[in-house]
Amino acid sequence: MPQEVKLEYDPKNMPFRRLGSSGLRVPLFSLGGWLTLGGTVVGDPVKDIIKTAFEHGINMFDNAEAYAAGRSEEEIGRVIKELGLRRTDLIITTKLFWGVRRGPNAGGLSRKHIIEGAKESLERLQLDYVDVIFAHRPDHTVPMEEIVRAFNFVIEKGWALYWATSEWSAQQIEEAHHIASKLNLIAPIAEQCKHHMLHRERAEKEYEPLYRNYNLGTTVFSALAGGLLTGKYNDGIPEDSRLAVQTEKQFTDQAAHLRTPEGKVLIEKIKALTALAENELQCKVSHLALAWVARQPQTSTVILGASRPEHVVDNLKALEVLPKLIPEILEKIEGILGTKPEPWPTFGRPELDAFGGARGRGRAGLLVLFCPCKEFGALGGNDLFVDPPPPKSTCKSNAGLSH
Ligand SMILES: NC(=O)c1ccc[n+]([C@@H]2O[C@H](COP(=O)([O-])OP(=O)(O)OC[C@H]3O[C@@H](n4cnc5c(N)ncnc54)[C@H](OP(=O)(O)O)[C@@H]3O)[C@@H](O)[C@H]2O)c1
Repeated sequence: MPQEVKLEYDPKNMPFRRLGSSGLRVPLFSLGGWLTLGGTVVGDPVKDIIKTAFEHGINMFDNAEAYAAGRSEEEIGRVIKELGLRRTDLIITTKLFWGVRRGPNAGGLSRKHIIEGAKESLERLQLDYVDVIFAHRPDHTVPMEEIVRAFNFVIEKGWALYWATSEWSAQQIEEAHHIASKLNLIAPIAEQCKHHMLHRERAEKEYEPLYRNYNLGTTVFSALAGGLLTGKYNDGIPEDSRLAVQTEKQFTDQAAHLRTPEGKVLIEKIKALTALAENELQCKVSHLALAWVARQPQTSTVILGASRPEHVVDNLKALEVLPKLIPEILEKIEGILGTKPEPWPTFGRPELDAFGGARGRGRAGLLVLFCPCKEFGALGGNDLFVDPPPPKSTCKSNAGLSH
């Protein structure tokens, strides 16, 4: 007996992009449950956050078996039921690796844990399937063939529609593709990676061949560097913030780092970005930081984190900033950050683009991004603002590349 639908989905002004090479269309901004939903936030406030997100066009919710030891999945599952959301309107993702309890087979990526973990996640979520199931980390103790076959089994069973990776190296993703291709199996469609203005190497450099070769998409996390890029830590650590509330070592280390000379340099950069955002874009630094990640052509979705509904509403103002990120602004941002990864060396040989022609400068993605006609995103990677795809541009910038 299908459940009564109480809340109809309206995408509002949310852009959608394809998740990597798959046909799945995901909202440019989604919402995740790490630390917050089921963790620092429980009960009705979880419902308020999810309802606010859904009513603002966010229909994708990210989770993991390990978030709050399974309670995050339970909370999201409960709220989906209580709000009366239609399953087909939603994109629900979860991740396996860390497990919810101790035990030699209670985590990792063995066939045993992938199959048992997937079933347990579905129980907690009260769902028949998730849309994408992620390997939350690589597991070098398990043969890659076992991992690829196990995720394919989960898909064949109908427990997940696609599979993907999180924080895998390019080499590991490449190996999974190689095995999937050799065995005629389904390969991972996306990578969930950390990507923000202060953390760029892997997303912008290491994965670059994967974007070209496999159309890999990213579901980006910590785009606000855990809140750092909101500017809330510019004058110390507010008492209700993540770095004050969370007591695990990774957070106390981060808090201590902010007091070091390197931490102070970071804060100065954030202050300079804040001034740029306010003076030239009339927005907050958090809007600028989110829009900056969202504009990368390989970014399929930016997973927001929010400890209150107002965060979701505020963060979605990033959509208004996206079209304002013109080349002059981007260059000023690079000037402040100084974190742009060096392109791969060519050892004196000309760089080749995806079609075998010599490029003017940089990699294809960057060339397209800096195109003055702003119809970026058409060369490889994911469609940008595209549903359906835009007409072919007649723009002839970028060393004669038509896109
Ligand atoms: N695959 C992985 O390994 C992995 C790892 C991390 C995260 N993720 C996913 O990505 C999601 C987002 O990650 P994240 O939480 O680190 O993202 P984030 O956007 O970098 O940080 C979110 C935190 O910043 C603060 N914040 C957000 N918006 C704000 C606003 N407008 N004003 C002031 N403060 C604001 C809130 O913290 P406070 O209010 O508590 O200070 C919020 O919880 C997670 O929920 C999870 O689904 C995946």
